[in-house]
Amino acid sequence: MKKFLTIAAFAVCSAVGATHAAGDVEAGKAKAAMCMACHGQDGNSAAPNFPKLAGQGADYIAKQLSDFKSGARTDATMNGMAAALTDEDMANLGAFYASQTVKVGTAAEDKVEAGQALYRAGNPASGVSACTACHGPTGAGNPLAKFPSLGGQHADYVAAQLKNFRSGARANDAGSMMRAIAKKMTDTEIDAVSQYVQGLH
Ligand code: HEC
Ligand code: HEC
Repeated sequence: MKKFLTIAAFAVCSAVGATHAAGDVEAGKAKAAMCMACHGQDGNSAAPNFPKLAGQGADYIAKQLSDFKSGARTDATMNGMAAALTDEDMANLGAFYASQTVKVGTAAEDKVEAGQALYRAGNPASGVSACTACHGPTGAGNPLAKFPSLGGQHADYVAAQLKNFRSGARANDAGSMMRAIAKKMTDTEIDAVSQYVQGLH
């Protein structure tokens, strides 16, 4: 019995180790020196086309870096940045950015109502799913499921990603989860929900 328990405990630990290499915040911070020019000192980028990484889920960040490295997600800048990163670097960078706090922006007032309605209820007529189901009512996402946090993210970046999912230029979403949704979205809906997300917290 004792032997069985030891084996069971070992099996659990290795399973957790394989999927959840808990990153080291300090090592991640050191590595992030080469990311700060674009993503900011604390993961709050200034330019609206550079995503904020502060407060983003650690596993989501590690997945994106791995996808940039493999080419599953294409971006000329990030494919190059991720090329030399090891799995351990990715986990550490994820842990560092997850430990930072996102600085929430403000939404354009004339877009809030339509954006909020779409975020909370989707568009039943065209079949767009409610964003809140996966990204959460405050936009915090679901770190364990690798559903990214959206709250406070730059509207320009969010709109660009939705258009990339819609066209298929971004195709690294498991099970086409986001492509299936974005395909049904109009430009007006993308614009409104992106503004709403920028002020969401
Ligand atoms: C020269 C500017 C630049 C540098 C330096 C840079 N990035 Fe990026 N990063 C970008 C841009 C632009 C994007 C958005 C790419 C896209 O549109 O798909 C991005 C996207 C990302 C994403 C995806 C975010 C999300 O929400 O999906 C992660 C993660 C990321 N970068 C991490 C890093 C890390 C870690 C480093 C340092 C090792 C780094 N970046 C260095 C410009 C940069
Ligand atoms: C069924 C779950 C689900 C629903 C519903 C959903 N999303 Fe997503 N979303 C995801 C997943 C999973 C990803 C990450 C894909 C990946 O691994 O790259 C994602 C990624 C995104 C991204 C890219 C984030 C980044 O940092 O690059 C945006 C923007 C986004 N979703 C917006 C929306 C909006 C707006 C809605 C509602 C209209 C929505 N999502 C509904 C699961 C969902």
